Amino acid sequence: MIRVFRTAVLTCALLAAAACQNKKEATPPEEPTAYHEAYRPQLHFSPEAHWMNDPNGLVYHQGVYHLFYQYYPEDIVWGPMHWGHATSTDLVSWTHQPVALFPDEHGYIFSGSAVVDTQNTSGLGTLENPPMVALYTYHKAEREKEGFNDFQTQGLAYSLDNGQTWTKYDRNPVIKNPNSIRDFRDPKVFWNDLTQAWTMLLVAGDHVQIWGSKNLIDWAQQSTFGHELGAHGGVWECPDLFALPVEGTDQVRWVMLVSINPGAPNGGSGTQYFVGDFDGTKFTTDQKDPLWIDGGTDNYAGVTYNHTPDGSRQFIGWMSNWAYGQETPTKEWRSSMTLARTLSLRATPQGPRLRTKPLPALASYSQGAAEAVAVDQPWTQPSQGHLQGQVSGDQVLTLSNASGQSVVFTFEATKNRITVDRSASGDVSFSEAFAAAPMQMDWDNPADNTPVSFYLDASSIELFVGDGDQVMTLQVFPTTPWDRISVAPSPGSTTDTPWSWQPMRSIWEKH
Ligand code: FRU
Repeated sequence: MIRVFRTAVLTCALLAAAACQNKKEATPPEEPTAYHEAYRPQLHFSPEAHWMNDPNGLVYHQGVYHLFYQYYPEDIVWGPMHWGHATSTDLVSWTHQPVALFPDEHGYIFSGSAVVDTQNTSGLGTLENPPMVALYTYHKAEREKEGFNDFQTQGLAYSLDNGQTWTKYDRNPVIKNPNSIRDFRDPKVFWNDLTQAWTMLLVAGDHVQIWGSKNLIDWAQQSTFGHELGAHGGVWECPDLFALPVEGTDQVRWVMLVSINPGAPNGGSGTQYFVGDFDGTKFTTDQKDPLWIDGGTDNYAGVTYNHTPDGSRQFIGWMSNWAYGQETPTKEWRSSMTLARTLSLRATPQGPRLRTKPLPALASYSQGAAEAVAVDQPWTQPSQGHLQGQVSGDQVLTLSNASGQSVVFTFEATKNRITVDRSASGDVSFSEAFAAAPMQMDWDNPADNTPVSFYLDASSIELFVGDGDQVMTLQVFPTTPWDRISVAPSPGSTTDTPWSWQPMRSIWEKH
């Protein structure tokens, strides 16, 4: 059942891609509108044109953050995958780079990760010029069509010029698929201090496999995780594993991220996490039920950076959902990434939980002074920006715009729950799944005057509650920008409120 679903998604996407590809060639765009189109994100990364899904190869090297991504440069639906590439010095604004990896005789280039092989363990560079090494999945569509199950294998490519140009390893694939596992993909590789070797996480249908290597080329499997734990309503995808200190304690715990499609609590795809321990080759946890990194519907396949300069955990996700991601109402490009976020662990009576915070670097994109906001009154510069306020007890916040569209955030302290309804948020007609039901998340620690912080962009809302204790990420397609908030029941005066609006400049503006 699960496999059929996944294959159907890929096959439909391929057929659609082939049909639209011909159309595309016949009608070149008349004038350049890039980055001013309807719904074009101004605070988020999106490709100039065409289809994007997962972030890949998140790695920092020599002052540059690299963002590679699943990319189909011929159409705005999923197709034969490449790795697109962009770079940043602050994880907020991005410079487009040439496509890094193209499909080859082993297949399409699916998701994976990148490391800097500082000690040149692979022998692919030198100690003076260590190679950047990407490990990714090859997906051989012809072999799948012929009825084989071993069509996904793991490949390696390296770059000796900080990610600008790439050479495929000449004895690819480095991991074959001898047990013919249909969904065998998305390698996440990191340097493991415990074993002084490389560790790779791979998903294999309904579980994660952990592999080890001394040189990034020869790999051996060490353990498995998760057959009977967490959510299993769909295929496991895009794993990650990292250590984080638990705030206010001397403990360090390991966090494993596992995306799943379908089977997320709010429908379609989502990312679960497990808090546990890792002895260098095996991950264990007492946790039976999944926790979710985001209470919204649009944060998928997210992973974290390797080699960040200060060791902090920076995360980026694909701001969409396989349930409707190929149907959203954009024309030139499709989909964007979430804001980059820092992950940490907060202590709770139920055990450690992820805290997710937007980056301080975002503040330098403020445009002019913040404006005090009166409830039900439009703010003066409706565009992308940052809306901040507070909630207490049970309260309903409604964001709305001059077109009469709205998104309703219901905070229920008494039920430990936050609910978001986007059914009247603008264009919802492109997919029945998009606004079928309000999205819901647990609110484990409601308190009076809890800070709430919304990053509003042309087609997304990111809500951070408390100090990033809860986060909800959602796409929306309003025809005019959000420009007012109402609060019910009102805490008192409509003008003397804790709300403020900080307009932000576009990350695509040249400075
Ligand atoms: C997740 C995913 C990955 C796969 C890639 C293909 O969204 O399905 O498992 O590698 O997308 O584009």
